[in-house]
Amino acid sequence: MLFDGLKPQAPDALLALIGLFAADPRADKIDLGVGVYRDESGGTPVFRSVKAAEAKLLQTQASKSYLGPEGDIRFTELLKPIVFGGKIDPKSVVGVQTPGGTGALRLAAELIAAAKPGTKVWIGTPTWPNHPPVFASANLTLQTYRYFDQASQTILFDEMIEALSRAEAGDVALLHGCCHNPTGANLTAAQWDQVAELVAKRGLIPLVDLAYQGLGAGLEQDAAGLRRVLESAGDVIAAFSCDKNFGLYRDRVGALYVRSQQSAQSELVLANMLALARSNWSMPPDHGAAVVRTILDDADLTADWTAELTSMRLRIAEVRQALAAGDSFFAPQEKQQGMFSLLPLNPDQVATLRKEHGIYMAGSGRANLAGLTLKTVPKFIAAVKSVR
Ligand code: LMR
Repeated sequence: MLFDGLKPQAPDALLALIGLFAADPRADKIDLGVGVYRDESGGTPVFRSVKAAEAKLLQTQASKSYLGPEGDIRFTELLKPIVFGGKIDPKSVVGVQTPGGTGALRLAAELIAAAKPGTKVWIGTPTWPNHPPVFASANLTLQTYRYFDQASQTILFDEMIEALSRAEAGDVALLHGCCHNPTGANLTAAQWDQVAELVAKRGLIPLVDLAYQGLGAGLEQDAAGLRRVLESAGDVIAAFSCDKNFGLYRDRVGALYVRSQQSAQSELVLANMLALARSNWSMPPDHGAAVVRTILDDADLTADWTAELTSMRLRIAEVRQALAAGDSFFAPQEKQQGMFSLLPLNPDQVATLRKEHGIYMAGSGRANLAGLTLKTVPKFIAAVKSVR
């Protein structure tokens, strides 16, 4: 039988937390699992700017006919200045709309494999658990380097540089643009300088995963690392997601951008991206990208979206400050950025938090701190203290 050959697959441990949390009847349970933003009342509401854009679309959208494998071209173009800033010529970067950030990563993986099968991709550990399977499924060769020490909560920058110094020309270096997932520990500007110089010197290809722009230090600041490597490196790939910074999670909104060292190759690169998109999903889902395009095409909606994003970022920072002020165990969390921190807790401690206190987080110790509020911080601090 055909399917006899299939191997058993465990459910994705991170996504399984969604169901486990929903089934827990405790009223004071706390969800620090999957990376969705939550507001002060614990909800993940649709952005005001998104609702307004959806109302506008309802009135004005005249057709839902196909757009093509590139998706919404104006969406991809309007995002370019936000992602790349004003210094880079938008024409030097080609982009296509993708189903979420995962779609962008998968398309990047297949593009790399099409250009050079078996290419080595250097991935820092820990990383987002879906990174390795996305690249492995495209038959790329995974190489890892240690990025972060959970016990001391420090970036192992020397180890990262040492490992990437052993990479060969043409190898890909996967870099988290901001809001490192799962650690929240991001490279400083000086460290980005060193990485940028290294990738240029060794002829490596930076693949920057920018899934949380605006949720770390601000829209401009969060793109600074990507913009820095663009200054030094030749070929650069950027996987972008609007799922978090527009709150469009289930609408699956992302983009893949490529800057080729030789501008004459841009058309060839784009043609391959389109062919790969066509054989994977034919065309990306339209609604979320149309919403983002409608927002970015309207100055008032853009201002409102930016204000909403700023208040989310400030709320996460406030939770981080409250944790650090409440218990010095959480001092490192104040300096980290974005939704996540990888707390120095082992799987048994995480299991006890779930069983005894109704606090849900990944077994790795990753906590989505955006799931806390100023009201629940004291309970969380006390619960963590009790398992330490
Ligand atoms: C996360 O890391 O929690 C999010 O990126 C959601 C996902 O798809 O894993």
